[in-house]
Amino acid sequence: MKNSQVRLNCGITMPVLGLGTYSFENDRDVTEQAVHAALKMGYRHFDTAKIYGSEPAVGSALTEAILNQVVDRDDVFVTSKLWSSDHSDPVAALKRTLKNLGMQYLDMYLVHWPVKLKPWACYPLPNEEDFEKLDLDWAYRCIGVSNFSSKKIQWLSGFASVTPAVNQVANHLNCIQNLKGKELGIELSDYRIHVSAYSPLGGPGNSWGSTAVVENPIIQSIAYKHNATPAQVPSKKMFSFCCPKWGLSKGSSVIVKSFNQSRMKENMGHLTSGNSCNHTTSPYRTLEDLWDDEI
Ligand SMILES: NC(=O)c1ccc[n+]([C@@H]2O[C@H](COP(=O)([O-])OP(=O)(O)OC[C@H]3O[C@@H](n4cnc5c(N)ncnc54)[C@H](OP(=O)(O)O)[C@@H]3O)[C@@H](O)[C@H]2O)c1
Repeated sequence: MKNSQVRLNCGITMPVLGLGTYSFENDRDVTEQAVHAALKMGYRHFDTAKIYGSEPAVGSALTEAILNQVVDRDDVFVTSKLWSSDHSDPVAALKRTLKNLGMQYLDMYLVHWPVKLKPWACYPLPNEEDFEKLDLDWAYRCIGVSNFSSKKIQWLSGFASVTPAVNQVANHLNCIQNLKGKELGIELSDYRIHVSAYSPLGGPGNSWGSTAVVENPIIQSIAYKHNATPAQVPSKKMFSFCCPKWGLSKGSSVIVKSFNQSRMKENMGHLTSGNSCNHTTSPYRTLEDLWDDEI
């Protein structure tokens, strides 16, 4: 798995492919089965959040796998998030998340949105104390943010004693962040903040998503040409990130959700196809070679 890890500015490594666990159905059994299946396939990064309601299922499946020696705790990377209504007491929220998961620590704790909900709704941004209160190094290995623009990253850097390691943002063909994706990427690289791309397939089936990415005719025609599926198709010229493979080829990590085993495998495909690039022995020296310069 070495090739599929990224080193973060806080010193730890994170698997570049994460399994998303938001599902509007929030069925505990289905989520647990998906986590077990994902572990078998080699997924080692699991993305949850208090607001998804999937923390208990993710935690219990991982705990079971750890107890059964399927995997060591050290070999899985668990991300969860501070919800906006908990900004006033992040310590209590973090403890609740650990309790939900049944785990002693998180690998990554993200501020889910730069938005504070009631009773502090008039202050859309969390304040300095909120961040400083997160100084609980026994409870997590790294902290980061999510859905932060480059301006908010700058604002944060003005007072935060710890630079976030990750900014998790939507990244696909049709998402708003892509309009300014370049600026955000440059800003984040200045601070050595890693970009983690969520909804890489456009979140079909979610209230915030659509099938526009997987049904895009250009994506479909490239998929056809390469005997691939739309989820495996990158398209460099038009989009910053449009699918798991493209996100990875741009150096970002990717959080993609599927609870369907064949699609979970499909979404891992880009890692193995990346491995078929070898600059000395393979006919494909780079991902660009493999994809005939179409990424
Ligand atoms: N930080 C944030 O604010 C934030 C926001 C949104 C999401 N996220 C995280 O990112 C994860 C992924 O985002 P997302 O769920 O919005 O979008 P996504 O991963 O782009 O899309 C998930 C949807 O695509 C389907 N799908 C998965 N693989 C497929 C494939 N190979 N071909 C066709 N359809 C496929 C899934 O259905 P099946 O399960 O039936 O395969 C599911 O309906 C979430 O679960 C969550 O962990 C974070």
